[in-house]
Amino acid sequence: MPWVVRDAVDDVNRVVGRRWQGLDPMLPGRADLPDGCAAPLVAAGTNGRPAGLGVCRHEYVPADTLNQTWGAAGRFSLILRLREPDTSAALDHLLGQWHDHLARLPEAGAQDTAAMISWPSRDVSGVNALLQHGMQSLTVVAVRPAGQAADSGQHDAGSGQRDLIIREAGPADLGAVTEFEMGVIRYDAQFGSAILRPATEALVRAETQAALARRPAWAWLAERDGQPVGLVHVQPPELSAWVAGMTRPGVTAYLQTMFVRPGERGGGVGAALVRHAHGVLDARGVQTTLLHYAQVNPLSAPFWSRMGYRPLWTGWEVRPAASLR
Ligand SMILES: CC(C)(COP(=O)(O)OP(=O)(O)OC[C@H]1O[C@@H](n2cnc3c(N)ncnc32)[C@H](O)[C@@H]1OP(=O)(O)O)[C@@H](O)C(=O)NCCC(=O)NCCS
Repeated sequence: MPWVVRDAVDDVNRVVGRRWQGLDPMLPGRADLPDGCAAPLVAAGTNGRPAGLGVCRHEYVPADTLNQTWGAAGRFSLILRLREPDTSAALDHLLGQWHDHLARLPEAGAQDTAAMISWPSRDVSGVNALLQHGMQSLTVVAVRPAGQAADSGQHDAGSGQRDLIIREAGPADLGAVTEFEMGVIRYDAQFGSAILRPATEALVRAETQAALARRPAWAWLAERDGQPVGLVHVQPPELSAWVAGMTRPGVTAYLQTMFVRPGERGGGVGAALVRHAHGVLDARGVQTTLLHYAQVNPLSAPFWSRMGYRPLWTGWEVRPAASLR
């Protein structure tokens, strides 16, 4: 990268880190721009300083990974750093350049591709530009700082849950845990945030087997009359590095699965499981918990809000990638 560009990148990184802290202290304080497929896209600003930079990254997610269940196989991501509080003009400019870039790539027209942007949820100034370029908000990364009690108004621990047992899952629970993991994937597939692949079920089973073999397992089942009715499954901090950079530094865990059997929903099973998991996470020194939910899943947003989570990043997408306007 030529020094003039590197200088501009350092400057934008510093300014954007500060701006994000003002928007939401749970965002990372440093906003380093990674390398992309080419030199950064630049939105012109005043005084010779760019108003914003965008880096495009291309990724092909292989079919034999579970990651391909959580999005398109071909992913074109624009990583944005915008310095002004009103991002709309610079964002519009960068999205226009990104459109031209993707339009020149035949592979961006393939069906199983997406153009993707992770956008700070509280940076509402950019939303109209994202919509005007044909993007849709598909997913949310939500965050919970440790020790934050869930809204417990109507969820006092024992009420209605006296016959509910919550226990750590183990290797003998492979069938039930796999079923619940698949339950979330099938439910989220209705909203486009998950895509059921031919290999999904076998991959889920293999990953579940490995997770349940670890001690502690960081997965808990709710049982009623000896039958599993719900699951919460957390990735411990050492397995959450892939997502930990999306929030403040510290010990971060990722809540990967939350599922309650359809007939048991709305009766407090989910809240009881999450309360149990939070107690363990807090005791194990986890400072921040992250999770994903589908933006239009009608069950998850209100549930996670009640459990003490709030939107941190919104995932915007258009599929296929070349249909960006
Ligand atoms: C999301 C899910 C795990 C919630 O489990 P649950 O046992 O139904 O939740 P609870 O009964 O403990 O509800 C706890 C709180 O969440 C909220 N909530 C739960 N279901 C809700 C619904 N259908 N509409 C609005 N709020 C709801 C309520 O605020 C409720 O508190 P309240 O009863 O005091 O109003 C369950 O609906 C589910 O398995 N959904 C399908 C899979 C899924 O969406 N998983 C999450 C993916 S991120």
